[in-house]
Amino acid sequence: MNFCWPCGTRALNGCSFSVPGPGLWMLVGSNGSGKSTLFRMIGGLIQPQSGQVDCCVKTSLVFQNPDHQLLLPSCGSDLLLNLHPNLTPSIKKERIAHLLEQVGLAGMAGRQIHTLSGGQKQRLAIAGALASDAKLLLLDEPTALLDPASQNSVLAAVQQLCHRSRNPLTALWITHRLDELDHADGAACMNQGKIGPWEKGLSLRRRLKALA
Ligand SMILES: Nc1ncnc2c1ncn2[C@@H]1O[C@H](COP(=O)(O)OP(=O)(O)OP(=O)(O)O)[C@@H](O)[C@H]1O
Ligand SMILES: [Mg+2]
Repeated sequence: MNFCWPCGTRALNGCSFSVPGPGLWMLVGSNGSGKSTLFRMIGGLIQPQSGQVDCCVKTSLVFQNPDHQLLLPSCGSDLLLNLHPNLTPSIKKERIAHLLEQVGLAGMAGRQIHTLSGGQKQRLAIAGALASDAKLLLLDEPTALLDPASQNSVLAAVQQLCHRSRNPLTALWITHRLDELDHADGAACMNQGKIGPWEKGLSLRRRLKALA
């Protein structure tokens, strides 16, 4: 895939890769290497000028700051927004309870969003992605604004969703926090609009740290 922004910046330059299957796949790369542009393309927000995205599952983007994507006052009402409108009220209630449970927020449907911690908000944003039936989560530096404990809680929630025995999810996760790479099923480095091969997260982390 190739992509230039209208200002002439070439953000993707012969970028080609495939995701091996369900699991947690991480991308690292310096500022401006094209990671967020690639996510916008996979999520269908922009189209490549040449090449194509072959993605047959529903995708959902999760950004750095959950405050930019949580819209309603309570956890339950926010999730309701992402559910199919034709579901009956009792099914909606059941689904909301299940979604909250899946991200470690069981019983918090009535909780006001402004009272949640950063990690809880980010996990609620992930539950919103699941509510929309997304099978591919695109997480763009989801832990950048979080302290270490909240960072771990978000990472653990996504790992659990990607490794569950029934319908495991696929997650692509952008990070600048090299320690997170150890938890990936595979990791790749993006450089000047291209992605390198998948490798073990631990080895990529060691290699990048040695270069730093
Ligand atoms: N909306 C836009 N309009 C014009 N140029 C853009 C736009 N978004 C990104 N770019 C440019 O495209 C290039 C790639 O940016 P992108 O945001 O994809 O990088 P990134 O790898 O996500 O960086 P970071 O790690 O800082 O988030 C950069 O040169 C950037 O300035
Ligand atoms: Mg970015």
